[in-house]
Amino acid sequence: MIIVKDLKRYYGTGATIVKALDGISFEIKKKEFVAIMGASGSGKTTLLRILALLDDATSGEYTIRGLEVFSLPEAERSYYRLTQVGYVFQDYALMNEMSAAENVYVLSMMEGKSKKESYGTALEALDKVGLRDKPDRVPDELSGGEKQRVAIARAISKKPDILFADEPCANLDTNNSKQVLEVFKELNEKFGQTIVMVTHELWHTKYVDRVITLEDGKIVGDERKKRFRKVHIKEEL
Ligand SMILES: Nc1ncnc2c1ncn2[C@@H]1O[C@H](COP(=O)(O)OP(=O)(O)OP(=O)(O)O)[C@@H](O)[C@H]1O
Ligand SMILES: [Mg+2]
Repeated sequence: MIIVKDLKRYYGTGATIVKALDGISFEIKKKEFVAIMGASGSGKTTLLRILALLDDATSGEYTIRGLEVFSLPEAERSYYRLTQVGYVFQDYALMNEMSAAENVYVLSMMEGKSKKESYGTALEALDKVGLRDKPDRVPDELSGGEKQRVAIARAISKKPDILFADEPCANLDTNNSKQVLEVFKELNEKFGQTIVMVTHELWHTKYVDRVITLEDGKIVGDERKKRFRKVHIKEEL
């Protein structure tokens, strides 16, 4: 599904150069649920933002379903990012004055879909994250975990090829974190959603199938669980 080859992202030049990513290569198969771990500053956010086409790499290759995304013209890359990539931020990034449903369907309305169709899609996405009964609540009337689940609903409403999440539980207590991780797990197992999630917490890794560890912009660990290899994954790129 994803193939990354020798990905580099350098900031600055000369003596002050920061090698945020220093030659990263890996493949992610369809339906994998991958955690990216590593110390602060190891390059996790930089990697995720490049994979989600929110930032450019300095060099390297990146293909999604055979599509060489770095070679696409900017307009096509933007279109791909908007329509095929789901991204969940640490701080939810919800509009405070909008209801849960409106937060989910605002993007699809911007794409020109009708309100009725967009609302239907939003309810379907809210249902998948266990919030079908709260479409009219504004963010202030929701718990942290519920807010993050609205943000996940927004990200999955466009049925993305891949869902990226950068420390989605960083602002949540253990209970709310569990709810959010259960939602990711169900999206992955029931709906086959490919997910790449950055996390600092070791206990989160029990929800995932594979852990990639970064250190100073390089991969120093890549561990797949046997269960996943045998049962869950299709050998499909
Ligand atoms: N815009 C930037 N300009 C210069 N250096 C940057 C920039 N963004 C990130 N860096 C540097 O790149 C390295 C990787 O940063 P990144 O944000 O990817 O780390 P991270 O693993 O996500 O850390 P954290 O766990 O704290 O979120 C760090 O050394 C950081 O200081
Ligand atoms: Mg980060």
